[in-house]
Amino acid sequence: MRILITGASGLLGLNLALETTRRHTVFGTVNHHSLKTDAFTVIQTDLLVPGAVERLLDTTKPDWVIHCAALANLDACEADPLLAQQLNTELPRTLASYVARSGARLVHVSTDAVFDGLRGDYSEGDIPTPVGEYSRTKLEGELAVAEADPTAIIARVNFYGWSLTGNRSLAEFFFTNLRVHKRVMGFMDVFFCPLLANDLANILVRMLESNQSGLYHVVSSESLSKYDFGLRLAERFNLDGSLIIPSSVTQAGLKAARSLNLTLRSDKLAQALGEPIPNLSTGLDKFYTLYQQGYPHMLHSLELN
Ligand SMILES: NC(=O)c1ccc[n+]([C@@H]2O[C@H](COP(=O)([O-])OP(=O)(O)OC[C@H]3O[C@@H](n4cnc5c(N)ncnc54)[C@H](OP(=O)(O)O)[C@@H]3O)[C@@H](O)[C@H]2O)c1
Repeated sequence: MRILITGASGLLGLNLALETTRRHTVFGTVNHHSLKTDAFTVIQTDLLVPGAVERLLDTTKPDWVIHCAALANLDACEADPLLAQQLNTELPRTLASYVARSGARLVHVSTDAVFDGLRGDYSEGDIPTPVGEYSRTKLEGELAVAEADPTAIIARVNFYGWSLTGNRSLAEFFFTNLRVHKRVMGFMDVFFCPLLANDLANILVRMLESNQSGLYHVVSSESLSKYDFGLRLAERFNLDGSLIIPSSVTQAGLKAARSLNLTLRSDKLAQALGEPIPNLSTGLDKFYTLYQQGYPHMLHSLELN
């Protein structure tokens, strides 16, 4: 298949491009970051420039499009709601309408953060109640995609992994600090279901291969607090978990409001794929193996400045 991945310099997009390139012809877009790799075709484009999306689809002629580009930083969304609206709502709308016309299949990557986190254990049938600009614009993006391309897969995700810059994921945050014996906060009151980005990448491809469409929660089958996530990571890497201070997110002085319980049910997905969704132990084992294989170093070497 010819796969077009937007946001291929991002945490998910880069791992997705590298996971899929062995079996498919992959095109990955970047904007501010430059990548040097023979593994897939890198296309530098600002997708907000009028005509950019149409040109991109004309040049790459994809069978599948996996849309990862977004303004994914909550504080950046609060600081610039207009940019958040353009990237998280209007761009998905434009992309979905061109993809639908081209006959390609689309995966639109959304977020667990469309919920307010007051309850947790959300299923696809629960009505989202977004908190803040990131959640609001991502939810509007889901609705715009569903309207423009009813056959699209809309995947609400949460993930961790190794990134180009080494500082994009919570797992990298714990690893980097604990490795130099630095104390860090671990939120005991924030719950989530994180999947390893590489596992998420492979699941998204299996969803396309098995011709799914519509809304899915694509998260780990296991939920835990961010504090426990830090402890589990410390244990896997043989680092000192006592450096993680059990804290509340309210003590952290974060600008944008955080939803507390973003645990999602993934049974619809498990049923559709006919297989269990990976849990945290499986993900952390693979995250550790990637580290031993020099994967983070390889990723950093791809960045061209
Ligand atoms: N990270 C998480 O834990 C998490 C959790 C839930 C959902 N999600 C969702 O998952 C998806 C991927 O997130 P991520 O964390 O991988 O994102 P990320 O690391 O912040 O990467 C964002 C990507 O979007 C690209 N981009 C931004 N503005 C662009 C523009 N104007 N034109 C073209 N490309 C542009 C960036 O390119 P440059 O860097 O080259 O500028 C980068 O490749 C997003 O939809 C996000 O909402 C993420």
